[in-house]
Amino acid sequence: MKLADARKRAEELRKTIDEHNHRYYVLNQPVITDFEFDLLLNELQALEKKFPGLVTQDSPTMRVGSDLTAAFLPAEHTWPMLSLGNTYSIGEVTEFGARVSRTLGYEPQYVCELKYDGVSISLTYEDGLLARAVTRGDGTVGDDVTVNVRTIRSIPVRVSAKGIPDSFAVRGEIYLPRRGFEEMNAARLALGEPLFANPRNAAAGTLKLLDPRIVASRPLECFLYYLLGNKLPADNHFDNIMAARSWGFRTPDIIQLCNSMEEVTEFLRQWEDERKKLPYDTDGVVIKVNSLEAQRILGTTAKSPRWAIAYKYAAEQAVTRLLSVDFQVGRTGNVTPVANLEPVLLAGTTVKRASLHNSDQIGLLGLHYGDAVTVEKGGEIIPKIIAADTGSRLAGAEAVTFPQLCPECGTPLVRNAGEANHYCPNYLHCPPQITGRIIHFVSRRAMDIEGLGEETVELLYRSGLVRNMADLYDLKHEQLAVLERMGDKSASNILSELNTSLTAPWPRKLFALGIRHVGETVARTLAAGFPDIDSLMKATDEELTALPEIGPRISVSVREYFADPENIETVRRLKAAGMTFGGMIQEKAADGPLKGKSVVISGTFSNFTRDQLKEAVEAAGGRISSSVSGNTSFIIAGNDMGPSKRAKANALGVRMVSEDEFVKMIKE
Ligand code: IVH
Repeated sequence: MKLADARKRAEELRKTIDEHNHRYYVLNQPVITDFEFDLLLNELQALEKKFPGLVTQDSPTMRVGSDLTAAFLPAEHTWPMLSLGNTYSIGEVTEFGARVSRTLGYEPQYVCELKYDGVSISLTYEDGLLARAVTRGDGTVGDDVTVNVRTIRSIPVRVSAKGIPDSFAVRGEIYLPRRGFEEMNAARLALGEPLFANPRNAAAGTLKLLDPRIVASRPLECFLYYLLGNKLPADNHFDNIMAARSWGFRTPDIIQLCNSMEEVTEFLRQWEDERKKLPYDTDGVVIKVNSLEAQRILGTTAKSPRWAIAYKYAAEQAVTRLLSVDFQVGRTGNVTPVANLEPVLLAGTTVKRASLHNSDQIGLLGLHYGDAVTVEKGGEIIPKIIAADTGSRLAGAEAVTFPQLCPECGTPLVRNAGEANHYCPNYLHCPPQITGRIIHFVSRRAMDIEGLGEETVELLYRSGLVRNMADLYDLKHEQLAVLERMGDKSASNILSELNTSLTAPWPRKLFALGIRHVGETVARTLAAGFPDIDSLMKATDEELTALPEIGPRISVSVREYFADPENIETVRRLKAAGMTFGGMIQEKAADGPLKGKSVVISGTFSNFTRDQLKEAVEAAGGRISSSVSGNTSFIIAGNDMGPSKRAKANALGVRMVSEDEFVKMIKE
């Protein structure tokens, strides 16, 4: 192909790919399958590889994260990024309205939008191209995070429509939907990595990652709520937002034009509870004077505009007393401080414990035992302590300090440079690390040994029967049956479960070993790349990192695991017990009746768990997808299927099958 033809084709491809991205990520209405999409993207990638001169910054190939490191150079805002005056009282919102009316001499229209709880961002477009994405910083100068922001699919890297100004800025909030946040934390938990406290922290942390490829893998989203420029399409905020929407930007879906302060306060009341049903966190409502001319007349103070105010819903807080702090040691040795509190009622539940994250957090709060502390429940799973009342502190109260030695085994704790967490390096002999590994090994997603819960594992450990996962397979009926709350029947069940587990699928076994950074997905990738454990043990860094999604961090961890004689011995003993480590189920599955099918599971089922259905789909060669799109082959619909999924399936004409129909399908 000649350069000129290549350039033309690359242009075409970029345009088509951008359109499909917009349909998928902004409109939620894809018209081609993921596969067709990938073909287009692959073609473009191949062209750009052959003719590197054709690569442009706005190319959709940059969405997967380039290997440029995000440098975060300081960048000045053309228009300062002001903050908003805020209030928790509806009365003060009405007073704000009265002030506005007094200055203007009439009551203006207002626009109400939800206040998104994320990280604010300013995007500058020049000649239709995303030129810069800059964080708020101090309002005058922020960090240039363009390479990372380019990976967010709902943010257009170029816009082309009639009437778009040559240069404009659009501002908004980058956030993580709650579900993405939970999945991210679940994966981190499985890998023994520290958890993010809430979706906002997770979004902020992600935006500042140095590797844009990791940013690309996180489900960041964005709402854009403020258009700035010299030649805007309309003379009011609402119509400008509608124009931005028509140019392809994802703008607030909940936005209301109000003709009076009464309508504004009505909106505030309406959304107080409704907002909790949204898939993302919001902490209030932003009220803006609609007319740009009125905004100009009202002007700004040094810090914030006089034409807008943020009304914040009261975060649910309570005051209670700090009784003690537990320092819990996890299976990877991570030490997590957890506060024990005098029980207190908060947002409908009794709270007894709160997370303290790490030693920095304890230091920041300046916590002392017995302190009166404020706990808050936000988007996070467990409530957190946000402040300690130093005024009411008893004389002689002892400060909470992080232990220097492991509270479980006495080994000096270590903290790696640049990491917030302390961990116990006594991998082999620290009891909770040993039991943690065994609990992980028998857990549902790993070897799935029913009857062996946390307590039983701890009991087996305390009674000296099990010190290592391989010991499980040496257990005798008479040893088990005499244990507390056990008995003949339970003992037989456990032994039979253990026996069945010897032939569990290879990826599950690999996951069960509990290698650091090897979660379920990574285990599946590794198992697909290496036919058995012997080949994996011998794998070099090059061979490991040649697999998709496997980077140096994982490859080092795998090699370190198999360099440890203790682990080699465990694997040898498991093999001696009859465990096979190999044989890829995918090979057989690839030709199954669901080959090439993308399946969504929704609702609850009578005869199967969701995990069982998931396994059945995969064993039949199908692929599980979490969301319905034009690409979905069919949905296995159970009871209480979500109404939005159902509506979407109907709109896209996706077939829904019952669990019985599904069973028939795979039998065929
Ligand atoms: S408008 C000058 N609209 O709240 C007015 N801000 O406390 C510019 N925020 O820094 C902001 N949702 O990060 C606006 N719908 C919304 C918002 C919103 C969240 C954030 C934004 C801003 C902060 C002000």
